[in-house]
Amino acid sequence: MSLYKTFRAVGTTLLMTGVTTGFAQSIPSLKDTFKNDFGIGTALNNSQIEERDPAMTQFIVRQFNMATPENVMKSALIHPKWDTYDFVVPDKLVDFGKKHNIKINGHTLIWHSQLPSFIRGIHNKDSIQTFFNDHIKTVAGRYKDNIFSWDVVNEALNEDGTLRKTVFLDYLGEGYIAEAFRLTQQAAPNVELYYNDYNNEQPAKRAGCINLIKKVQASGARIDGVGIQGHWHVGKIPFKEIEESILQYAALGLKVMFTELDIEVLPRNFQGADVNQRMGVNPSLNPYTAGLPDDVQKQLAADYEALFKLFLKHKDKVTRVTFWGVNDGNSWLNGWPVRGRTNYPLLFDRNNQPKPAFYSVIGLKK
Ligand code: XIL
Repeated sequence: MSLYKTFRAVGTTLLMTGVTTGFAQSIPSLKDTFKNDFGIGTALNNSQIEERDPAMTQFIVRQFNMATPENVMKSALIHPKWDTYDFVVPDKLVDFGKKHNIKINGHTLIWHSQLPSFIRGIHNKDSIQTFFNDHIKTVAGRYKDNIFSWDVVNEALNEDGTLRKTVFLDYLGEGYIAEAFRLTQQAAPNVELYYNDYNNEQPAKRAGCINLIKKVQASGARIDGVGIQGHWHVGKIPFKEIEESILQYAALGLKVMFTELDIEVLPRNFQGADVNQRMGVNPSLNPYTAGLPDDVQKQLAADYEALFKLFLKHKDKVTRVTFWGVNDGNSWLNGWPVRGRTNYPLLFDRNNQPKPAFYSVIGLKK
């Protein structure tokens, strides 16, 4: 914690003299700190992709060397109508990556959520198959030379490890997963291909995930890695299961990534990250509007420190750690699963100032 205090003191002095960008440059950089270990990524929203705030751009470029679009490459946005694609912001993202030397992970080709609304009007197999084929071919094909990787399939599993009932499973059958990998590989042969999910570090879902990966491999399609989203809860990080998962997934010959890391500090009555699961607004669910209490701040720092310690222990298997948002202010957890909360799940506060958790993580490499 003394490292935190030292940097805070420097930061406060610089802030008082108005040198805010100076402070941003004076704090350690995550990507540099872990450059020999794994990539450090962030999710980017439209404002960040479009570089609307130069200080934010500077901050992102200093801290991260990988990025995932938070929303703009999801099918509802990139493929809004049957025969219409919208590549405006996705193209900007790819340019952003090239300009700033940030590797882009495409997110995501086949997912049951944030689908275009026209899908709801389709009730036959042929049209779903046509959508599926055209979508992958067009989107993966467009970025074949300037994207590093794709989350080819996202969240295809239930908690018990069985396949989730989705429009793809319903119409195309379970072979749709291997087929998505085959089509993406065909459209973008040099891009890494991943399966991504939440709670797939938990034993039952992990077993289903391993099964899914083996089926893709047996089909002859390539799969390069598995993403564990990592939407966890303060004081309740499943360290043992995470370690076991790193080992088991790596044993299949896959790279292991933590792809959407954030740590919930507010009350919630379920775990995981099913975007369709919501809770009603209630002031008791939003207890820290005036700031995060010290004890929670300390627990958050301890959790992040232990997590990164584990990632470092397995750095030969873990290739990337991506946070789901740059700072607490951008986090989706301010709006999900309860609207309008004040959440604190990341390493940087609403002004991009490092939190104690940041210094705990950085301190592992001192
Ligand atoms: C979330 C975004 O952060 C929100 O802005 C959006 O409203 C819903 O989706 N798992 C995923 C991500 O794979 O795409 C989700 O992102 C969070 C859960």
